[in-house]
Amino acid sequence: MAKTILVSSEGKYGIEAGVEVLRGGAARLDVIEAAIRPVEIAPECRSVGLGGWPNLTGAAELDASIMDGRTLHSGSVGALSGFRHPISVARQVMERLPHVLLVGAGAARFATEIGAEPGPTDDQAAAVALARQGWETWLTAHVPAEVRADWPDVPLIEWARQSADPETAHGTTIALVKDAAGEIGCGVSTCGWAYKYPGRLGDSPIIGAGVYADSRYGAAGCTGMGELTIRTGTARAVVLYMKMGLSVEAACREALADLRAAERRFKGGVTIHAIDAAGQPCVLSVGRFTDTVRWYFWTEGMPAFEERQTLVAGW
Ligand code: GLY
Repeated sequence: MAKTILVSSEGKYGIEAGVEVLRGGAARLDVIEAAIRPVEIAPECRSVGLGGWPNLTGAAELDASIMDGRTLHSGSVGALSGFRHPISVARQVMERLPHVLLVGAGAARFATEIGAEPGPTDDQAAAVALARQGWETWLTAHVPAEVRADWPDVPLIEWARQSADPETAHGTTIALVKDAAGEIGCGVSTCGWAYKYPGRLGDSPIIGAGVYADSRYGAAGCTGMGELTIRTGTARAVVLYMKMGLSVEAACREALADLRAAERRFKGGVTIHAIDAAGQPCVLSVGRFTDTVRWYFWTEGMPAFEERQTLVAGW
């Protein structure tokens, strides 16, 4: 069983740590945490962790999930504020509760109860300041001074629509892992859409939309416009298409056909990351900025992980 790890663009900050523990024989969920935790605190990363883009009110609300492809057990947190490693909190939801998904105040309460590391910590201060600066710049450019004077105690609906900027509606880190036992898992962590409406959940904490794993067939995870992949259940669809006998690339293309059928109100794109049961990878992007999408891959036999370019499709 060839050990394999695939991470998305932002995963470049954690692939080395992931490969190291996978090489050492760690099990899939430990590898996922090892690969995603560095991304959540990477000073350069603006789409994952507390240094990621905040919501419309300037608060960071983070989403993360993890899924075990052997048991289909899953854990997710949504709109979690104040903690350094949402991926680890998501895992503990899976391990310690009879639930799958916690959001907002309940997720934060749980994180406190389990002793999760609070944040932002000193090493995250610069990243948080940069993200906040981006938010202030956006606010100044889009919201008239008389409205800003009462911000955020104003109706926010109109501004959420204006924040639908594809440049900041991408990012997210994905890790898809096949371990020494041949079992598969996947994990996702993100700050979500920049300047989103407070309480907005993307696809990352929604099992079946932004994340899915079943060791019998493979795993998939999505970055980009989560509103689209929630509507078509993209990650589950990819795995289901593989179950129906499609190759990993054909399964991604079939899920893309489902996405195309959904009417789009906003610009932006989606990148589907997938591996099949043998660890064979495919990454397929649609929409804007696809030429900048990279992914990182290592499987047993490769001396080191490789940076690869996504397959690009049009809407
Ligand atoms: N795909 C990440 C999000 O929409 O939040």
